[in-house]
Amino acid sequence: MESSGTNTGLRFVLLGQLSLWAGLAFGVIGAFQFLWPGLFEWMPFFKSRPLHVSLVVAWIFSTAIGGIYHYLPRIGVPLYSERMATWHLGIFIATGLAIVGSYLAGRFGGREYWEFPPVLAIPIIVSWVMFGVNYAATVFKVKDWPVHYWMWATGILFFFITYLEANAWMVPYVRGNLVREITLQWKSYGALVGSWNMMVYGTSIFVMSQLSGNEDLPRSYTAFLLYFLGFTNLLFGWAHHTYVLPAAPWVRGVAYAVSMTELLVLAHIIRNWRSSLGVMRRMVHHRALMFIAAAEAWIFINLTLALLLSVPAVNVYTHGTHITVAHAMGSTIGINTMILLASVYFMLCPKGGELGKRWTSIGFWLTNISLLTFFVCLVAAGIVKGRLTIAEQLSHQEIMVRITPFLIGFAVSGVGILTGLSLILWDSVGRTFTRLRSEQ
Ligand code: HEM
Repeated sequence: MESSGTNTGLRFVLLGQLSLWAGLAFGVIGAFQFLWPGLFEWMPFFKSRPLHVSLVVAWIFSTAIGGIYHYLPRIGVPLYSERMATWHLGIFIATGLAIVGSYLAGRFGGREYWEFPPVLAIPIIVSWVMFGVNYAATVFKVKDWPVHYWMWATGILFFFITYLEANAWMVPYVRGNLVREITLQWKSYGALVGSWNMMVYGTSIFVMSQLSGNEDLPRSYTAFLLYFLGFTNLLFGWAHHTYVLPAAPWVRGVAYAVSMTELLVLAHIIRNWRSSLGVMRRMVHHRALMFIAAAEAWIFINLTLALLLSVPAVNVYTHGTHITVAHAMGSTIGINTMILLASVYFMLCPKGGELGKRWTSIGFWLTNISLLTFFVCLVAAGIVKGRLTIAEQLSHQEIMVRITPFLIGFAVSGVGILTGLSLILWDSVGRTFTRLRSEQ
């Protein structure tokens, strides 16, 4: 890849890594608060949870956006406006700080996942429009788009639409009817995940094609199949977020089938790509490869759980239990975070060869083994809770006592993930700083 363009992309990636680090710390605090609800009076769960979720979601968006700004100029597609990208970064940082500040100060006002004061939606919408216009004007001149261009474009456009939907509760007509409001809320969250998945999957296809030197991969039939399935999932996948609401049954069936096939196709692409890599390529790009291989394994683990979760009869009982949290974190850590870390390492060492420190490998294994324990504990807590609530009709207090061993396992393995990812971040953040300094 040529070295051209400014460093805005890398700065977004640095910001993403720092957000992840901070987000992990709040996640661990939240997990211990499951065990001791009174822990840290200055940071109650109603603050630690949104701080954790907002910061880790910022990691996903910031790193995916950073990749787009970084990669395009380096493959000969200069950005339409570097200045707009810099403004985007400035607004992203300022809004992020305002959101974190308002949570710390206990100022809320929004709805779930976007709990900050609604006025902060304005800079988010403005900066996203700038991003969309810049992206469209940049890639407009490219003919015959490979699949990642479509994925990035779709992710950008649909995040915008879904974010407007998530804020539709401000319209009195929507707010006036509880079922209408909740349906729109949950629908928007499903599509929100679909939009960031598009950006992350686009990044994974791009990184894999660059690593293997296989230009045909992003133009292959299977890559476009993944795109169309991902797109259909983005349009319908939200339905399994709304099983408990009154909605037409066929919509749930379609959502269920599509979301499963989408993950299977992605796993198939990664597997084919890995088996087609030559020994040399495997060695030189060791670090990024490890993360992609981990994402593949996590796709299968999540697929198994998602298959169970999406069966409407099961979903009615599991929705809102720790199983939903296992599903959310299993895929955002196991799939999205692993793919994004592969992208970070590919950006930092595009020519490979540098395998990094031994501590990074230890961090990798510690993260994945801890994540498996974390996942199993959450699923076990969810199953026991669901059974005790419905079959034995125990009180909340009694149920919490019975699931305490699993919650301890969850919190302890959460510390393992924090430690493992910190070892990786220590290396990658250090490399990002060095790279930014050397390119100044
Ligand atoms: C890359 C790292 C991580 C990502 C991307 C991530 C992502 C998420 C997401 C998306 C949610 C919202 C789930 C939902 O609403 O259903 C969540 C909740 C949560 N996460 Fe994480 N997480 C990460 C690491 C951790 C770690 C290491 C811990 C520590 C044990 C942790 C503890 C929690 C807790 C306590 C919640 C709230 C669960 C609840 O409200 O029931 N997370 N996380």
